[in-house]
Amino acid sequence: MAIVQSCILNERNTKGCSTCPPTCPHKIALEGLNGKGGRIALAGAPPSYRGLTLKNSPARDSQSKVYDLLEKYIATFQRIFDAENNRIKSLYLFSESPGTGKTTTAVVAMNEYIIATYLGALKRGIQPTQQPALFLDVNEMQTKYNLSNMTNNEEGLNEIKMMIKRASVVDLLVCDDIGIRGASESFRSLVHAIINARTTADLPTIYTSNVTINELKTVFDERLADRIKDQCAVIAFEGESKRGRR
Ligand SMILES: Nc1ncnc2c1ncn2[C@@H]1O[C@H](COP(=O)(O)OP(=O)(O)OP(=O)(O)O)[C@@H](O)[C@H]1O
Ligand SMILES: [Mg+2]
Repeated sequence: MAIVQSCILNERNTKGCSTCPPTCPHKIALEGLNGKGGRIALAGAPPSYRGLTLKNSPARDSQSKVYDLLEKYIATFQRIFDAENNRIKSLYLFSESPGTGKTTTAVVAMNEYIIATYLGALKRGIQPTQQPALFLDVNEMQTKYNLSNMTNNEEGLNEIKMMIKRASVVDLLVCDDIGIRGASESFRSLVHAIINARTTADLPTIYTSNVTINELKTVFDERLADRIKDQCAVIAFEGESKRGRR
C-alpha cells in the first residue's frame, strides 16, 4: 500500500498515517487536496502554523502551566454535541513581551476544535460543519483596510466586509492581536462590530494580545471591554521572546 503523507490526525491513529490510503477522505476533509479546500486551510491561519496540535506545539514544554489549562479547555469542545451544556468559554492569551507563543497556542486550540468537531460529527453520523473556525489576523485586516481606503479599492473593501460577516458568526474565532492601540476610530469600530456580535450571541473567541484585559477599555469602550471580560478566561504567558530559537 502506498504511504500517504502524514496529516493532522496522525497522533489520533494508533498506527499513524502510514496505514491510510493515499486518498484518505479524512486528510482531504481537513487538509484539502492539491492545496485546495480542507477545514484547516479554510480556517486561514498562516501556513507555518497549520499543522499545530496540542501534542506537537513547540510552546508546550516551556509553557507547561499554560498547556495544562489548555488541555482542560480543549476537553470542553465536546460540549458542542451536548444539547444542554453547550457553552464554550472564550480565552484571552496575554503577554506583554512578543514571541511567547500566544498565536501558536491560539492556533493549537483552533486546530483541536476543528478536529474535535469533525471527528465528533462523524462518530454521531452527522455532517461535519464546513467552516467551524476562522483565524482573523487583526493587523493584516487593518493594513488591508487602510490600503483599500487609500486607493479607493472597492474589491478590497468588499473582501473586508465579507471577512467581518464571517468572523461575526463563525462557531469559533481566533482574534489574533486584539490590542490595536494605534488604530483609527473607523477601523476600531469594525473590530468592535465583530466582537459585539459574538459576545451578544455567546460565541467563543480566542483572543491574543499584548494589552492586559483591563486595558481593553482604552482600546474599545468600557461596555464592550466588560462583556469580553465577563465571558473570558485569561491565560498569561511568561518569559522572553522565543522567536527564531528553533
Ligand atoms: N515557548 C516556546 N518554545 C519554543 N518556541 C516558541 C515558543 N513560543 C513561541 N515559539 C516560536 O516563536 C515564534 C513566535 O511564536 P508566536 O507567533 O506564537 O508568538 P506570539 O506570542 O504570538 O508573539 P507576538 O506577541 O509577537 O504576536 C514561532 O515560530 C513559535 O514556534
Ligand atoms: Mg502573535
